[in-house]
Amino acid sequence: MSKNITWHQTTVTKADRHQKYGHKSCVLWFTGLSGSGKSTLANAVDYALFENGINSYVLDGDNIRHGLNKDLSFGAGDRKENIRRVGEVAKLFVDSGQIVSSAFISPFREDRELVRDLFEPDEFIEIYLYCPIEVCEDRDPKGLYKKARKGEIPEFTGISSPYEQPKQPDIKIETDKVTIEESVTFIIDYLKKRKIL
Ligand code: ADX
Repeated sequence: MSKNITWHQTTVTKADRHQKYGHKSCVLWFTGLSGSGKSTLANAVDYALFENGINSYVLDGDNIRHGLNKDLSFGAGDRKENIRRVGEVAKLFVDSGQIVSSAFISPFREDRELVRDLFEPDEFIEIYLYCPIEVCEDRDPKGLYKKARKGEIPEFTGISSPYEQPKQPDIKIETDKVTIEESVTFIIDYLKKRKIL
């Protein structure tokens, strides 16, 4: 960090926004293999929140890598930087009073923990989407597993690059066993139980 910069306290605080919007803010941090359902579920939850008048937004790996993070590769160092930047962006969204659903593989435990540390304990909700790799590979929505198996994509998560499972996720969903609707209901109920909604 450069010298000679001071933090400027905002006039409207996060608490002011919570009060005005009638709900708290947090990040729903979806993590899991490619094809495990992160984007699908993040968007489904976001839609349910939006329809109910909740301020929400989706941050998605593929999309963010088209813009803010288009300079980053899939090597371990760049994945770390990807997650660090997204963590900071998610923090801004939470400060703005929104419920942000983030969909990034975020394969490394340490990187996810660094993001968790940016937040208050009740603001970071880690949602592990577990799905056997065979099922993800079978789904292969973008045809990437096929390419990775042929050696056309280096460092592909689950094939030639590791995925470190969360040890104690706040929520674990087995996406080959439950429907999207059931998962959305479970997450919304969780937010109510935690008094975020
Ligand atoms: S992360 O590992 O840095 O968190 P991120 O979620 O941003 O990954 O991007 C993952 C998406 O990029 C995948 O859904 C897939 O579409 C695409 N992708 C391209 N190359 C790779 C790769 N080598 N490993 C994993 N995903 C890749």
